[in-house]
Formats: sequence, C-alpha cells, structure tokens
Amino acid sequence: MTATLLPSGTERGPRRWPLLGNLPAFARDPLAFFEHLRDGYGDWVPWALGPRRNVLVSQPAHAGELLAAVESSFSPNELGWAFRQLLGNGVVVATGDDWRRKRALVQPAVRPRQVRAYAAEMVGCADALAARWSAGERVDVHREMAGLTQRIAVRTLFGSEAAGREAPISAAMATAQHELGAEFRGVTLFLPSWVRTPGRTRMRRAVNVLDREIAHVIREHERASAAGEERDDLLSRLLAARDEHGHPLSRRELRDESITLYIGGHETTSTTLTWAWQLLSGAPEARARLTEELDRVLGDRLPTYEDYPRLPWTQQVVKEALRIYPPIWLISAVARDGARIGGRPVPAGTTVWTSPWSLHRDPRWFPDPLAFRPERWDDDAPDPVPEHAWIPFGGGPRACLGARFALVEAALVLAVLARRFHLDSGPDPVPVFPGLTLQPARPVHAVLRSPERSRAGLT
Ligand code: HEM
Repeated sequence: MTATLLPSGTERGPRRWPLLGNLPAFARDPLAFFEHLRDGYGDWVPWALGPRRNVLVSQPAHAGELLAAVESSFSPNELGWAFRQLLGNGVVVATGDDWRRKRALVQPAVRPRQVRAYAAEMVGCADALAARWSAGERVDVHREMAGLTQRIAVRTLFGSEAAGREAPISAAMATAQHELGAEFRGVTLFLPSWVRTPGRTRMRRAVNVLDREIAHVIREHERASAAGEERDDLLSRLLAARDEHGHPLSRRELRDESITLYIGGHETTSTTLTWAWQLLSGAPEARARLTEELDRVLGDRLPTYEDYPRLPWTQQVVKEALRIYPPIWLISAVARDGARIGGRPVPAGTTVWTSPWSLHRDPRWFPDPLAFRPERWDDDAPDPVPEHAWIPFGGGPRACLGARFALVEAALVLAVLARRFHLDSGPDPVPVFPGLTLQPARPVHAVLRSPERSRAGLT
C-alpha cells in the first residue's frame, strides 16, 4: 500500500500515517517497533498512536525517572473495559488516594515474612507435579507451568481448603485472562463500554463465575476468622488488614484484590518459568551448574524458603530469563502539567513509554544481549548493569507488589523440578507473542530427561 507519510515533526522520529500515526507498525509487531525506534532514532523518540502523542525513552535513567514520577507528575495509563470488569477498582486499576490506601492494605500480605508462609505451598504443588512426571514423557511446558502456577495461586490466595473450588476458579480465570489479552492487543480497547462483542460476553460470564466462587470463599474465611481459626493464606491477611482509620477492606474490595493478585501473579510467573526452561534447554553449561547447585545445597530433600538465599545460581537463571523475556514488555504513563524527564519538559497529555523488552536487549547495558548468560548476575561480573536497565517488575511507587513472591516461586519451582528433570525442548529459540504478557507463540514441547550429573558420584 502506498500513502503519503507525514514528517514526524521537529524531533527525530519515525514518519507517520495520516490519522493513524504509527499505529500500523506498532500493531503489526510492537516489540520490533520499539527496537527499531531505539536503534534508528535514539533514546528519546516521539511517535503517535492515532491522535495521541507518545515518546519512547530508552535510557535507563529516564525509565527510572518515569517510574518514580507515576502518581506525581505522571498518571498511570488508563486501562480498558475488560480490566475494569475483571479487576474492579483493585490496586492495579485504582489511582490517587484510593490507590494509596489499597496499596498500603495489600502490601503487608506479600511481605517477605508472608512469602515465607506461602513457600511450602509452592514447593508442595511443584513436588506433586514432579511425582506425576516420568522420564521419557513428552510435555507441553507452557501448559504444565500454567497449571502449576494456577494451583499455587489458588492455594496461596485462598488456602488449601479451597482446593475443591480450584477447577471453576481456574477455568474462569483462564477465560478472563484470555479476554484481557485479546482486548489489550485488539481494537476493542478503543470501543465504548456499551458495545457488546462475543469476547465481552465471555468475559461477563467468567466474571459472574468468579464473583460467585470468591464470595463463597470470602464468607468461608469470615466464618473461620470469627471462630478464631488462624490461617496463613493471602485472603486471611487481606481480611485482617486495617487502614489508617482502622477500617477493613469491604467484601467488594476483597474480591477485587483477590482477583488482582491472581491475575497479576499467575500468567507472569508461568511465562517466566516457561522461558527459563526453554533457555536452559539450549544451555548445557548453565544447566550443569544448576544441577550441581541443587545437589550440593539440597541433596535429596525439598527446598524451603530458607534455601532461597543459598541458591544464587538458580536465582540468576530466573533473573536472566526475566531479562531476555520480560513478561510485562511495556510500561507507560501520561504526563501531567509540569512533567519533565531528563531535564526536558514533557507536554501534558503525552504518553511516555519505556519497554523492558528493548531496554533488556540493549547491547549498551547487556553485551551480546540475546545470549542466555546467568553469570552476568555474578556479584563480581565485569560489566555492572546500570540502575533501571533491568526493570521486569517496573519500579517507583507503583512497582510490582508481588516481586518477592514471584522470584521465590520461580526459584523454588525450578529447584524442585530441575533436581529431577531436564526439560529437553531443543536449543532453538521459540517465537514470542506479545499479548498481555510475553507468551510463546507456539507450544513448547519438551521430553523429560534425567538431569546430566558430573562423575563426582552425585545421583
Ligand atoms: C514474574 C512475575 C511478575 C512480573 C514480571 C510482574 C511485573 C509487574 C510490573 C512490571 C508491574 C508494574 C506495571 C506498571 O507499572 O505499569 C507490576 C505491578 C503489580 N504486580 Fe506484578 N509481576 C509479577 C508477579 C506478581 C505477583 C506474583 C503478584 C501478586 C502476588 C503481583 C502483583 C502486582 C500488583 C498488585 C501490581 C500493581 C501495583 C500497583 O499498581 O501499585 N505481580 N507487576
């Protein structure tokens, strides 16, 4: 197709289509688009989505400034119909004072001391999966990891007592998550809320199931709490939380935060694990170091929360997987009056974007950026990583609340499973699909093998 492209204005940036701006290139392949802007136009690139003015920043310091200024000189970007339908006004959707109150109420439930209580559930679920697997079997890695993190999410959120309700909750969450992803990348993001589409009908049905199931779980927790039963799951923590005026979260707020924590944590962690297995499959040396560490630290026993700091290589594998395949691949915020980045004014209404994908793959901060090298994260690595060049969990006041939860979960799951299996999916890279999270674009099939051990006699 030929059309006249508009000049990009006074700043250096890609040329734009009339009315659409850079929407076609962004919609076709947003990951390649961001890398193209970074490589072709520099660290500060104006571009347009329809009439909306945008800037992509690619300097880590600028990304850090943007993240730090959200909720002061920048507003969070507005989320679409599907997000509001599913997450209500939970901490991801809320803004301003409402967000501040909710963040303060949710944060204690995901503190390291609490994550310690959830670790046993994470390990138990992973061990049950390992018991179902046998060497020589062929598995769909992403499906297995999604099933596993789903079980962990339901049990850590609602307690093992909720195991009986796992099936309907997980099925409805999976539908809702699929529809969120479809809206995120599709035209429905721009449709008014009264427009009905088949996807929106599916979303409404899933939300009805979730509302019913979660209302039941909340009532059951309220009964247990009134009876003086001590429970360690996330919902029990949320029920016990009080704001500065001594007020608890309402039932509606408990529902919103439960779904928010599930959606925030499940798919992000399952894709992290899938990518980690895929990267390990093509890296025999990194795999051998992993097996050696697990054998040395754990021997024949299962890991506990206390083992987490004693598994630095396992942690580095996770960190490096999050670098190459950051589940949340773009972050944006809208400038308010007086916003500045890197000392330069940003006109109010401009959306400033930074992309963990393109930052993490920038050879200036990560030499040979496509190579899977967990040793980059060694304490004495020769090339220190600049602050904010690695931002899989965002940063600033709205940084991920579940970062510790996710890092511990991913490391403990890897530790349990890699001790017994090598997931051999071959060395070839898998294409990515940038949906709500960075997904494999096709199934990742692996043959389960026994991990290779050195001849030091470790079996
Ligand atoms: C590898 C896994 C994870 C990744 C990569 C990830 C990434 C992120 C990122 C980048 C943000 C900030 C988004 C933005 O600024 O636009 C965020 C926010 C958030 N995440 Fe995570 N996350 C992960 C796991 C989790 C888990 C396990 C939970 C809950 C247990 C969780 C709960 C949240 C919540 C509640 C927020 C919103 C915080 C706020 O707006 O104040 N995340 N996450």
